Amino acid sequence: MEEMNHTITIYQDDAPIYDIYIREDLHDLANALYGLKIENRKLFIVTESTVASYYLEALKEALRPLGRFVHAYVFPAGEQNKNLDIVRGIYTFLIEQKADRNDVIFALGGGVTGDLAGYTAATYLRGIRFVQMPTSLLAMVDSSIGGKTGVDFDSYKNMVGAFHQPSAVYMNLSSLLTLNERQYLSGFAEVIKHGLLCDAPLYAWMKENREALLARDLPVLQEMITRSCLDKKAIVEKDPKEKGDRALLNLGHTIGHAVEKCKDFTLLHGECVAIGTVAAAYLSWKREMITKEEYLEIKDTFANYHLPVNVSGLSSQEILSASKSDKKMDGGHVKFILLEEIGHAVIRRDVEDAELLSAIDSILVE
Ligand SMILES: NC(=O)c1ccc[n+]([C@@H]2O[C@H](COP(=O)([O-])OP(=O)(O)OC[C@H]3O[C@@H](n4cnc5c(N)ncnc54)[C@H](O)[C@@H]3O)[C@@H](O)[C@H]2O)c1
Ligand SMILES: [Zn+2]
Repeated sequence: MEEMNHTITIYQDDAPIYDIYIREDLHDLANALYGLKIENRKLFIVTESTVASYYLEALKEALRPLGRFVHAYVFPAGEQNKNLDIVRGIYTFLIEQKADRNDVIFALGGGVTGDLAGYTAATYLRGIRFVQMPTSLLAMVDSSIGGKTGVDFDSYKNMVGAFHQPSAVYMNLSSLLTLNERQYLSGFAEVIKHGLLCDAPLYAWMKENREALLARDLPVLQEMITRSCLDKKAIVEKDPKEKGDRALLNLGHTIGHAVEKCKDFTLLHGECVAIGTVAAAYLSWKREMITKEEYLEIKDTFANYHLPVNVSGLSSQEILSASKSDKKMDGGHVKFILLEEIGHAVIRRDVEDAELLSAIDSILVE
């Protein structure tokens, strides 16, 4: 395959709005930020405790020659901190530091940091610029692109949020080397999902390159992340505010989110996406959209990335109720994503409870 360009530009209404830099280290950061005119601006890094211990100093060093001054706000790592109390803490910090409309926030971390810092940037002074610097695989292939920001509210995931596009996304792939194995593997679920829903060649490539990817071979990861981002780009550019086809990205998420909730968030998001996608593939087989062999093969693909393909200790009824309280409802009907074929997902609003229950049963074990 020809040399890939690892810079991707996201457009809206035919105008470029931001670039995604997929690099092995921080060497190109100054170049990435050049167009943002940050020389006389204050730069604020928002990050969490774990990521800060590895990468905060390096980012500060890289930013110091570029901006007027660099300050950091560090919150405790973990999904339970993606809430309005932490947002409030960041507002206070920004006000004390006299952050104004032209200053810039850098979100350094996984999806929790990107969503939280992005939401703060979306709302502080009615919106200031922010740069996504994703450090987890999930954040690189999924959450850092597309402009969805938000926080959890009580037990409701992502209940409060805003669309706010980053000014740039800069990925330092070598940061993936410190991610723990379980977190690392969970990121692959969203990539396999992207392949299944719109990119059959990526899906096939994921099967062929498994060993290099599991070994964290950076050039191979760079190709995977680039391809996955190009898929997400195509979808979010067509439908930036999720009025239509962007919902295809929710393949595996109706049942996946329900499992995540019923398991009290002890399973990782990507793990639940794997389980939910297998359930969606089962339904697609039962509706004779894909073959049984394809369904079984999808299951194997997730399992080969050491992702779970079933779940224990839950009843189908509780998963059903949880999936119906998900945000993805549309006038009382679940908007369910099925596979028309491998590489082509479709939205269906006619999936009845009995069918959902059979799909849920297919992923339950004792
Ligand atoms: N905005 C969107 O479009 C979108 C899409 C998908 C998911 N999300 C959100 O993303 C979040 C999940 O993202 P996540 O899995 O990245 O969670 P996360 O940010 O909590 O990161 C996962 C774990 O990995 C650690 N970590 C991150 N980078 C590391 C590194 N380089 N080295 C060592 N440890 C590192 C973190 O401290 C954390 O413990 C959820 O809140 C989800 O709702 C948002
Ligand atoms: Zn997801």
